[in-house]
Amino acid sequence: MNNPYPLTAVVAMARNRVIGDGEKLLWHLPGDLPRVKALTMGRPLIMGRRTYLSIGRPLPGRGTIVLTRQSDWSAEGVITADDLDDAIAKAAAWIDADSSREKEIIIFGGGEIYAAFLPRTDRIDLTEIDLAPEGDATFPELNQAEWREVGRDDRPAEDGVPAHAFVQLERVKVS
Ligand SMILES: NC(=O)c1ccc[n+]([C@@H]2O[C@H](COP(=O)([O-])OP(=O)(O)OC[C@H]3O[C@@H](n4cnc5c(N)ncnc54)[C@H](OP(=O)(O)O)[C@@H]3O)[C@@H](O)[C@H]2O)c1
Repeated sequence: MNNPYPLTAVVAMARNRVIGDGEKLLWHLPGDLPRVKALTMGRPLIMGRRTYLSIGRPLPGRGTIVLTRQSDWSAEGVITADDLDDAIAKAAAWIDADSSREKEIIIFGGGEIYAAFLPRTDRIDLTEIDLAPEGDATFPELNQAEWREVGRDDRPAEDGVPAHAFVQLERVKVS
């Protein structure tokens, strides 16, 4: 199935590809939260149930679509989906319900969800953090032939904040 709107993964990843350990925050980057807010506002977020539980509530101004295989799982303000096509269809319906919404679907994690959607992902907004923490959730390896870096903003380590970079990747179009 073709995507009705572009799919953009928004992720923060350490240099060992770790994105989380299922419990605590692995880093604190003061600039990252406002950036994630700006990248996601007015858009539907597709996330796995474990990521939703780590956030704990729907994020205001955005659609929250949670993938789960448990037919009896629900949470207030959350749209549930039971497979990838269902999640994309519900994200598109959320966009179509209000003309002021942005025409982009955000893949919001975690590791299982990034991996499952990667073949259909068009863009990646990546925050690379110069740390290598332990953790069980990771961002999948990218085939370098399929992705092109179109933007990079490097930030040096400063005041206890690790060096990091804001990177934009686009899927290479095959003609
Ligand atoms: N650094 C970042 O940018 C970032 C972003 C997001 C998350 N995270 C971190 O990532 C970690 C969570 O990642 P995770 O891989 O453990 O879990 P996850 O991807 O958030 O969620 C996994 C769950 O999603 C559901 N699911 C997965 N594939 C499905 C499919 N094809 N169809 C229907 N449901 C499906 C299942 O829920 P059921 O078990 O209910 O069936 C599965 O247990 C946390 O540590 C979180 O903090 C980091």
